[in-house]
Amino acid sequence: MPLTSSKLSTSTSLFTFPSKPPPPIVSFLLFLILCILGFYSLHHPQRSYSTPLSENSIKFLSLASNFTLSDYLRSLTSHSHLAGTKPSLDTIQYVFSHFEQLGLEAHTVKYNTLLSYPQHVSLLAHFSDGGVVNFSLTEKGVAQNALFDIVQPYHAYSPSGSAYGKVVFVNYGREEDYRALEVMGVNVSGCLVMARKGESLSRGGVITIAEGKGALGVLLYAERDGVDGVERGTVMRGVGDPLSPGWAGNAQTILESLAGGFMPQSWGDLGRVNGGRVGPGPTLVNLTYQGEEKVATIQNIFAVIRGLEEPDRYVLLGNHRDAWTYGAVDPNSGTAALLDIARRYAMLMRKGWSPRRTIILCSWDAEEFGMVGSTEWVEQNLVNLGAKVVAYLNVDCAVQGPGFFAGATPQLDNLLIEVTKNVKDPDSDGVTVYDQWAATNSVVNIQRLSGVDSDFAPFLQHAGVPSVDVYYGRDFPVYHTAYDSYTWMVNHADPLFLRHVAVAGVWGLLALRLADDSILHFNYLSYADQLQAHKDILSNLLDGSVSLDPLTMAIQELTTAAKEAEVEAKRLMEQETIGHVPVLKIRALNDRLMLAERGFLDADGLQGRKWFKHLIYGPPSDYESKLGFFPGIANAISQSTKTSKRDGQALIQHEVWRVARAIQRAASALRGELT
Ligand SMILES: *[C@@H]1O[C@H](CO)[C@@H](O)[C@H](O)[C@H]1NC(C)=O
Ligand SMILES: *[C@@H]1O[C@H](CO)[C@@H](O)[C@H](O)[C@H]1NC(C)=O
Ligand SMILES: *[C@@H]1O[C@H](CO)[C@@H](O)[C@H](O)[C@H]1NC(C)=O
Ligand SMILES: *[C@@H]1O[C@H](CO)[C@@H](O)[C@H](O)[C@H]1NC(C)=O
Repeated sequence: MPLTSSKLSTSTSLFTFPSKPPPPIVSFLLFLILCILGFYSLHHPQRSYSTPLSENSIKFLSLASNFTLSDYLRSLTSHSHLAGTKPSLDTIQYVFSHFEQLGLEAHTVKYNTLLSYPQHVSLLAHFSDGGVVNFSLTEKGVAQNALFDIVQPYHAYSPSGSAYGKVVFVNYGREEDYRALEVMGVNVSGCLVMARKGESLSRGGVITIAEGKGALGVLLYAERDGVDGVERGTVMRGVGDPLSPGWAGNAQTILESLAGGFMPQSWGDLGRVNGGRVGPGPTLVNLTYQGEEKVATIQNIFAVIRGLEEPDRYVLLGNHRDAWTYGAVDPNSGTAALLDIARRYAMLMRKGWSPRRTIILCSWDAEEFGMVGSTEWVEQNLVNLGAKVVAYLNVDCAVQGPGFFAGATPQLDNLLIEVTKNVKDPDSDGVTVYDQWAATNSVVNIQRLSGVDSDFAPFLQHAGVPSVDVYYGRDFPVYHTAYDSYTWMVNHADPLFLRHVAVAGVWGLLALRLADDSILHFNYLSYADQLQAHKDILSNLLDGSVSLDPLTMAIQELTTAAKEAEVEAKRLMEQETIGHVPVLKIRALNDRLMLAERGFLDADGLQGRKWFKHLIYGPPSDYESKLGFFPGIANAISQSTKTSKRDGQALIQHEVWRVARAIQRAASALRGELT
């Protein structure tokens, strides 16, 4: 996974801003960072014809093996495998030959893309007493390519250069923090800002806001205490004294040397970490980054299991393979699960099974550089994807720690819940993943996929394909460091590989259901309810200043269409049980269920960010937006603060209309009749 707001990283993040306008890929990368994910409660009744586990599903579950998962992970993490580098070719070979040896139809698709690699990174602090500290930026105890391990993806594609200036402490780097500084008369223009990593703002958010204020660079640090559940000492013992956990100490050295006004009281008790002053200076820092951009070959790998009855309908399982370092969590816990699903599907095939629809296992490359592999593929296959892909099921960091988490487009909520009721919980006996998941929060929370932090983004936000993303645990402390290793996994995240088993179970069963069910288990009433809940939140936020009637009416249309589809599905199921199989009618209904999601796409995309076509789920451009949905409306709301009241309301109203029309398009695709 590249950059997410939910990641509490312990690694140092150093950024310089390009002096020229960034190339488009940089802008794209910046979007990765935006993810303000809403959590929503679910209370939808199960569809009344819910299917009992098929024989193949039971067989699939019985073939689970924590031993094979552990073996796969060990092999995948034997060396670091950054996209486009020589060591990554071994990993490609490993995955490809795994698929081939299982007898699956495997192929690779190569792309020559411009990737960017760091050559030299340095950070020097010049103190007012004349002292100079040259901070070590390599993680000790790891191989020479460790430079890759600590350099954050934001650097990718950024021009080389030095940023030299006074340091200002900006707390979490939020707008409100800069307002507090402004009150104190502190202007960060021409300075380097130092921020501590907070939960409310992603790294990308910190950077974009700082750039907007004229800062030359950002030094971001995570406080030791901010990391849950992991003994850093133990992490370090295995591999030496890493920079990352120590960086809080480096940060402290700089912070203690600042003069200027005292930090506002509202920033809490920071006296412990520093002298309590914000700067600017007198300490100067020199942050230098020198990178090289080169055209490198990346490879996506596919294993295709042809559908028997509907070979031209596809269910995709995807995970990226490239890693900043060894990638035990990010992303190869997911790769291990993908390889184990391949193994189990191959065994089912040997017993005579073929899916109804085609299943494709996808292993993406260069995700860490901004989902390059999956995005290229989605753009290249856009027409076929639009017409034929039923769903995209993503797993990135499959296991980061305890606790089940899931994101989905809402028509898949019910299926996801059903499937989790069929998979054993990895941490307690006699209960299912669902039981534990529901018990943790008293209701089941399913995230919506507005973030641009993994390969589901191009599928959902560009191509309108219903998507799912599942994982165990969150906020692991070795994110994007050289300590994301097999050893860390065994010691901290999944000692017996049973969480890997659970993820593979949920992921593989979901795909079996979507590939084999004669009628797709998509529930658009769930979508309509979710849209209604989104509308209610929006309504509270806007406080009556803009009419939401168009949304109300569009959601009503979707509800009606969803109810009709449910009735039709039930009728077709009944006919099927008494032996009349209305094949074409079932296929027609399935196509409408598949295509309704595409209705949310808008050809013009989000304003100023045309690539993002989905008007319900996508990243808002304002990092502090309160909305984790309706990104166009969210943008209009933040823009409206910079215009007259009337113009602002007109902007918002326009975006409300666009969303309403998108919902109507989805309703009409679901109904299938031309108006
Ligand atoms: C800082 O240290 C690195 C190695 O740790 C060295 O390569 C570099 O030359 C040093 N820079 C200065 C200005 O001393
Ligand atoms: C900060 O300083 C810059 C450059 O001197 C200036 O353009 C900008 O308006 C100042 N910002 C504020 C909020 O005073
Ligand atoms: C900053 O550091 C780089 C690399 O060590 C050096 O080339 C550059 O001259 C330094 N800049 C200043 C202003 O000291
Ligand atoms: C697999 O799980 C069993 C317990 O169910 C455990 O004894 C065994 O050590 C695990 N294997 C691995 C490789 O972790």
